[in-house]
Amino acid sequence: MSQQENLPFDEEYYQPPYKAVYRESIENAEKFWRKMSEELEWFYPYEKVLDETNAPFYRWFSGGRINISYNALDRNLKSRGNKIAIYWENEKGENIGLTYSQLYNEVNRFAKVLQDLGIKKGDRAVIYLPLMPELPISMLALARLGAIHSIVFSGFSVQALIDRINDAKAKMVITTTHTMRRNKRVELKGIVDQAVEQTPSVENVLVIKRNEEPVMKKKDVLYQDLAKRTGYKKVEVEETSSTDPLFILYTSGTTGKPKGIFHLHGGYGIWTYLTTKWVFDLRDNDVFFNTADIGWITGHSYIVYGPLQAGATVLMYEGVPDYPNPDRWWELVEKYNVTVFYTSPTAIRSLMKYGEDWIKNHDLSTLRILGSVGEPINPEAWRWYYKNIGNSSLPIVDTWWQTETGGIMISATPGLGNYMLKPSANGLPLPGVDADVFTEEGIPTNPREKGYIVIKRPWPGMLAGVWNDPDRYIKTYWSKFQGVYYPGDYAVKDEDGFFFILGRADEVLKIAGHRIGTREIEDILISHPAVAESAVIGIPDPVRGETAVAAVVLKQGYTPSSQLRKELEDYVKKTLGSIVIFGGIYFVSKLPKTRSGKIMRRLVRSVISGQTLGDVSTLEDETSVDELKKVIEEFS
Ligand code: WTA
Repeated sequence: MSQQENLPFDEEYYQPPYKAVYRESIENAEKFWRKMSEELEWFYPYEKVLDETNAPFYRWFSGGRINISYNALDRNLKSRGNKIAIYWENEKGENIGLTYSQLYNEVNRFAKVLQDLGIKKGDRAVIYLPLMPELPISMLALARLGAIHSIVFSGFSVQALIDRINDAKAKMVITTTHTMRRNKRVELKGIVDQAVEQTPSVENVLVIKRNEEPVMKKKDVLYQDLAKRTGYKKVEVEETSSTDPLFILYTSGTTGKPKGIFHLHGGYGIWTYLTTKWVFDLRDNDVFFNTADIGWITGHSYIVYGPLQAGATVLMYEGVPDYPNPDRWWELVEKYNVTVFYTSPTAIRSLMKYGEDWIKNHDLSTLRILGSVGEPINPEAWRWYYKNIGNSSLPIVDTWWQTETGGIMISATPGLGNYMLKPSANGLPLPGVDADVFTEEGIPTNPREKGYIVIKRPWPGMLAGVWNDPDRYIKTYWSKFQGVYYPGDYAVKDEDGFFFILGRADEVLKIAGHRIGTREIEDILISHPAVAESAVIGIPDPVRGETAVAAVVLKQGYTPSSQLRKELEDYVKKTLGSIVIFGGIYFVSKLPKTRSGKIMRRLVRSVISGQTLGDVSTLEDETSVDELKKVIEEFS
């Protein structure tokens, strides 16, 4: 790649403090974390920086008392009360700005309503809201009470909602009537109505009214009614312990059942606060625009908890980037003087196709740092972003991390003076992150040799476990290699210690940056009356990164047709969520299987992507592969 020559960042920019801070964090970890933790406010000091007695259930800052909502709001009231915490705008250009003190008031009022409805410390509430101000408000209100939120991305549908509510045994669901996408109404409450018929733990559905009258069901209560009665009163903050759960966020793994990743007030709080400063270098006059949805970890950590604890101003946009026009984001950057901009490779690729004229009419000169997250960024997208949005002069922080890691793990760190970029590289590990690349045998790879990325010691932002399933936590993350955390990504490391993350090493897809398991899609497909069996795999897509492809065996009495194909696609979207985008559904009479009856997804993938088949010695019936090949040929 040739963009190296154009990069203004060189070894001379790669200055301390990054190197010194990193070394300190590894060689003198205990002292380092003690110092770092002082930047936040504690109700009561902790005894131990890291409690390893029940490893791998590591607990950070145990014995201490801290509340993340307090650190985001109360702590900032004193010095930043009149500063904007959140700007919100929608597709139509309607907007509001909430100062820290206004946000504090809203959060307290919301917390009072929750309290009056019986929500208390340790209770779970599922939030199913679009990117409206009440989303961060309700999160911060629940956290203030020590209750646990579990946000379900509004692109998920009924079944996904049911599974998550039931696994978390949520007492409450918080929702609204709808959101708008491309000026079309997207129903939300109707989906909750269907879901709560199958979720016995839910006592109340708290409905936030927008510009239409909600149709109320028997468990529904209207937020505005209660809030009016409550008024603005201060609610005492719960002095949660560092190791009390803050939220559960369900994410996809290799089985059909999503994992409830949960994070704690202390470690997650410190990690999101510090990484926000290290990576995005947020200072008091910055405006941070993160285009992610809060329903994913990127929004949890870098719209809400990191930036607000850091006292920054964030911009939330409820809408799509290309409506009403493909310059919607650039319009917002100009209007709000955005200084730090964070988005996904998929979004960049989807905007590239509209050309540069949409950018030229906007003054983007306030920008100083660009970020990328969610999937590996391809060189074309990187170059386009760098040249057209970054004016060939801004650093792009390509941040690698996961729901499980709580916050960014590998990236450039402008906040620590490390602007060093390399084409396609994510960068160097953040302080405290002891990363390496291992071979299948668990030994470090040679430079530039492909292997699995691993994290060799605990870090404060790490997941606390898998909700209701401690064994799965150990099995998924701590068993592939003894004593090290296994993220499930392929990577290489070069001779300078730069990491390049190459993609998932398991059955997890990234469709437009959204994480979804192939088994989850299979489970939904086979719940359709026409489907007997299915195998889902991912194939590369030029814009979305990946899409799902299914090989489907129909039940007797059903015949393949394009209509049925469409029906299956719609069914998956309606049941699981609109985030599932198919690159094809192929009907076959049988799937390739081993003699013991296991579906050989590897072979399905090889056939569909036109690769060589590899070892077929365990294949029971070779005609299954021939048939699949034929079906694909006919189709294309
Ligand atoms: C992938 C999103 C390459 C990776 C924050 C990881 C990335 C998964 C990057 C986690 C990046 C995320 N470069 N790959 N900058 N960022 N990934 O839990 O495969 O939705 O394991 O968290 O996204 O997805 P999740």
